[in-house]
Amino acid sequence: MQEHREHIHGQWSSRWAFILAATGSAVGLGNIWKFPYITGENGGGAFVLVYLGCIALIGVPIMVAEIMLGRRGRRSPINAMRFLAHEEGVAPAWQALGWWGVVAGVLILSFYSVIAGWALAYVVRAAGGVFNGMDGTTAQTVFTELVQDPERLLAWHTMFVVMTVVVVSRGVAAGLEKAVRWMMPVLFLILLVLVGYAMNSGHFMAGLRFMFAPDFGRLSLQGVLIAMGHSFFTLSLGMGAIMVYGSYLSRRTSIMSTTFVIAAADTSVALLAGLAIFPIVFANGMPPGAGPGLVFQTLPIAFGNMPGGTFFGTLFFVLLAFAAWTSSISLMEPAVAWLVENHNVSRVNAAAFTGIVGWVLGLGTIFSFNVWSGEPYQLFGKTVFDLLDYATTNVMLPLGGLLIAVFAGWFMRRSSSMEELGIGDSRLYRGWRFVIRYVSPVLITLVFLQLVGILRFN
Ligand code: TRP
Repeated sequence: MQEHREHIHGQWSSRWAFILAATGSAVGLGNIWKFPYITGENGGGAFVLVYLGCIALIGVPIMVAEIMLGRRGRRSPINAMRFLAHEEGVAPAWQALGWWGVVAGVLILSFYSVIAGWALAYVVRAAGGVFNGMDGTTAQTVFTELVQDPERLLAWHTMFVVMTVVVVSRGVAAGLEKAVRWMMPVLFLILLVLVGYAMNSGHFMAGLRFMFAPDFGRLSLQGVLIAMGHSFFTLSLGMGAIMVYGSYLSRRTSIMSTTFVIAAADTSVALLAGLAIFPIVFANGMPPGAGPGLVFQTLPIAFGNMPGGTFFGTLFFVLLAFAAWTSSISLMEPAVAWLVENHNVSRVNAAAFTGIVGWVLGLGTIFSFNVWSGEPYQLFGKTVFDLLDYATTNVMLPLGGLLIAVFAGWFMRRSSSMEELGIGDSRLYRGWRFVIRYVSPVLITLVFLQLVGILRFN
C-alpha cells in the first residue's frame, strides 16, 4: 500500500514547508481585503463573533479532514476522492467532490486575480508618492480612477495571472517555500506598524468597539451565511486546495497541530488588518460599509501621514500582492494536478490552460466595476463579480466542506481516519470525530436551511 501512495508531484521538504505553504494559501486577500470590508458591511462585532465561531467549529475540523483526505489519497482531489471511495468501499460518485473543487477554484481565481491586480497597481502608486498627505476624499478618488478604467484593470489582471502561471508551472514545492518564509513575518510586522498608527489616530477605541462589541441587531441571516462562507474562503477550504497540499505532506507530520498553527496565523492576520483599518475609517468619517474598496481607501491615508510612509506603503502592497500570489497558486493547483495526472499534459501547459480560463472569466469581474456596473448588467441587484463571489464563497465552498465532513466522518472507516491522523484513540481524536460527524455538518446545514427560509428560529 505504502508505495502506491508515493506522489508524482513531489513532497514538501519538512513540516514547516507545509505549514508555510498552507499558511501562504490561507493568508491572502481574504484576510486583508475581504475580512475588513465584509465586517464593515455586516455591522462589526456580532459578525466577527460568528466568524470566529465558524473558524473553530467548522473551519478547523474540516481543515483537519481535508488535509487528511489529501494525504491519504496522495493524488489530485478528483483522483484522491475516487481512490478513497474505492478504498473505503463506497460509491465512486464521491469523485464529484473533486470536480466541484476544480470548478470552484477556477471561478475564484478569476476574480481573485483582478483584486490582486489592484494590489499591484497600488505598489506603483505607493512608490510614486501618491499617498503623501492623503485624506479620505483623495483616497477615494485614486481608488475610483483605478477601478473605472477597464484597460488598467485588464493590464494588472493579466500580469497577475501570468505570475501565477509561472510559479504553478514550476511546481508548488520548488519556488514558493523560500519566499513565504520571510514574507509572512514581514507582512505581520507591517500590520503591527499599521495597528500602531491606528492606536494614535484618536479613534482606536471606536475601531475596537466596532469589531468586538457584538450587537446582534446589526447582523442579518445573510450576514451569518457570509461569515460562514468566509471561514471557508479564508482557510482555503472546501475546494481541494488544502487537499492537494495535504497530498504532498509527509506521513510523519501531525495534521492536528499543523492545522492549529495555520488557523491561528490566518485568524490573527485578519484581526490585525481589521484593527488597522477601522480606526482609520472612524478617524476620517468614512462609512465602514464602503465595500470592496475599503482597504484601498483607508490604508493609503495611514501611509500618507506617517513617517516613512512611502517605504512602508510600498512594502505593504508588495507583500499584499505576494500574499495573494501564494494564495492564487493553490486555487489553480487542483486543476493543474488533475490535468497532469489524467491527461498526460506537462505542468507548464496545464498551468497555462488553467490560467487562460481564469483570465477570460476574470473579464466579467473587471467590467463589474465599470462598463457592466449598471443595472442592465445585474442579476438580483448583483454584478458579475458579486455573483461569482457569492456563488463560490457562500454556496460552493460550504457545500464542498459539508461533503468533506460527511465523507470523513461517516463514509470513511473509523480505523482509517484514526490511522491517518496518528493520534490514536485519544480524546482529541474522539473530539474531532464527534465535531466532524455532528457539529460541523449540522451547523452548515442549518445556516443553509435558515437562509432558504425552510427553517426559522424567530
Ligand atoms: N484563502 C485565500 C485568502 O484568504 C484565498 C484562497 C486560496 C482560497 N485558495 C483557496 C479560497 C481555496 C477558497 C478555496 O485570500
